[in-house]
Amino acid sequence: MEDILLKIRDVSKHFGGIYAVNGVSLDVKHGGICGLVGPNGSGKTTLFNTVLGLHRPDEGTIHFHSRCINNLAPHRIYELGLVNSFQLPRLFPQLTVLDNMLVAARGHQGDRLVNSIFLRERWQEQEKELIEEALGILELVELDTHAFSFASQLSGGQRKLLEIARGLMAKPTLLLLDEPAAGINPVLGKKLFEKLWDFSHNGTTFFVVEHRLEILFEFASWVYVMDKGKVVTGGQPRTIISDPVFYRAYLGEE
Ligand SMILES: Nc1ncnc2c1ncn2[C@@H]1O[C@H](COP(=O)(O)OP(=O)(O)OP(=O)(O)O)[C@@H](O)[C@H]1O
Ligand SMILES: [Mg+2]
Repeated sequence: MEDILLKIRDVSKHFGGIYAVNGVSLDVKHGGICGLVGPNGSGKTTLFNTVLGLHRPDEGTIHFHSRCINNLAPHRIYELGLVNSFQLPRLFPQLTVLDNMLVAARGHQGDRLVNSIFLRERWQEQEKELIEEALGILELVELDTHAFSFASQLSGGQRKLLEIARGLMAKPTLLLLDEPAAGINPVLGKKLFEKLWDFSHNGTTFFVVEHRLEILFEFASWVYVMDKGKVVTGGQPRTIISDPVFYRAYLGEE
């Protein structure tokens, strides 16, 4: 398997006069957690949305598994295994946690009515496998005991874990997460990253924007720092925390 999963070269995206992303080049290698940090408005979410096909890059190229994905629609990018939870069918509060997992798995597999009528037996077989898989993933994010609760009964932090579990249900090669630890308590945030780290050794690589640097830096194998639309530095967390460029991005020009 090739080492580089996602290859971004000279990508720019502007909105009117604002260069939200300005000539970004970076690689996300296979395996582990790759972090993307930077102050508010530095272009992180715009870069993610450009990778995911929500925005067309104005300049530059994006390759996933050596294939150019610049002009692909979001659902095609999803099919290639590059996933973000917004591409999944939305969370239904009135359904159980387990059903929400199944909806996420089926969403893009063409769950045709015909199949459920004429291929009933096969369909039931697949359903059983999906349920087992969903329960396994729920166990990993410690939501298995809530499998039959309604999604509406979950706390904010648990919902977040469910969103990530739903992302994993799609069996992505690369899962993009934008601030997964935002709004959840530090203990759960750390636990969440521990889980991601476990998953990252089982075929799913993570590319994660996170403002909770103390948690991200503990688990990331590589971190890129953005400032004003540009990647200003990148490296292993222990290198980044002694890099003046990293501090300058957060503290502004002295
Ligand atoms: N759809 C849009 N139209 C116009 N300007 C936009 C749009 N989306 C983002 N921007 C601008 O682009 C810049 C980068 O925004 P972006 O949301 O990518 O930053 P971010 O790094 O994700 O910030 P945060 O950490 O606060 O989430 C900001 O100046 C923002 O106002
Ligand atoms: Mg953002």
